[in-house]
Amino acid sequence: MSKKLEGKIALVTGGTTGIGLATAKRFAEEGAHVYITGRRQAELDQAVALVGNATGIAVDSTRLEQLDQLYARIGQEKGRLDVLFANAGGGSMLPLGEITEDHYDDTFDRNVKGVLFTVQKALPLLAQNASIILTGSTAGSSGTAAFSVYSASKAAVRAFARSWILDLKDRAVRVNTLSPGATRTPGLVDIAGPDAAQQQGLLDYLAAQVPLGRVGEPVEIANAAVFLASDDASFVNGAELFVDGGQAQI
Ligand SMILES: NC(=O)c1ccc[n+]([C@@H]2O[C@H](COP(=O)([O-])OP(=O)(O)OC[C@H]3O[C@@H](n4cnc5c(N)ncnc54)[C@H](OP(=O)(O)O)[C@@H]3O)[C@@H](O)[C@H]2O)c1
Repeated sequence: MSKKLEGKIALVTGGTTGIGLATAKRFAEEGAHVYITGRRQAELDQAVALVGNATGIAVDSTRLEQLDQLYARIGQEKGRLDVLFANAGGGSMLPLGEITEDHYDDTFDRNVKGVLFTVQKALPLLAQNASIILTGSTAGSSGTAAFSVYSASKAAVRAFARSWILDLKDRAVRVNTLSPGATRTPGLVDIAGPDAAQQQGLLDYLAAQVPLGRVGEPVEIANAAVFLASDDASFVNGAELFVDGGQAQI
């Protein structure tokens, strides 16, 4: 069977763990050369070894000069980008009344500023028919106690996609939002702190909210990213694809 991303050049930001790592792996299995970013060098090295057909570049997506260096290097090495998965992000919990400026800045810098400039600075490199995928969240469409700043940042991501498909109308570039529900990743379990029992408690609690009765696995999000990246999704543009066991639909 032919591979879905044969010969494509892909970038997965935040590709060292969780959803990004699983997606980088699936992209490579489908024939892409994958650039992976993240801030920690040791995790980058491990991810590159695991993914195989990959290049790791240490980049903090909130630092514009580092994004410039990233795209300069991809430009020199490959000359174009076919798939951009703007996935780096995350969040922590604080209820209204306890929200700090640092909490707001960290969340919006990672999930909103980082995504915006990751995409904008990629534009000169994007090939005809390129696919941009933004990582949203079910939290962008529903309320969660103590998660309002993260939720607002993911609603902003979803709003970016709606307008960017108009800005990119003449480029034949697709933009879609991939919105996971609770997915078993380091980023999710860390919200419960370092204790394994508390982490399992969080996963069990979240699983009980999902119509399918379980949390997602990173590869299940990655499989949807492969679809959006590939020509199978050639007429899918501006959509929000929930991969959440049904959680956002109830
Ligand atoms: N897991 C879930 O349940 C879930 C649900 C909905 C949406 N999401 C979203 O899915 C995406 C991936 O989350 P995950 O659960 O897979 O989390 P994760 O395991 O914590 O992975 C996050 C990745 O992003 C990188 N990263 C974080 N901040 C960065 C920055 N400023 N610049 C560059 N890289 C950065 C991390 O590496 P470094 O720390 O080394 O930089 C890591 O590679 C996030 O956007 C998250 O909001 C997750």
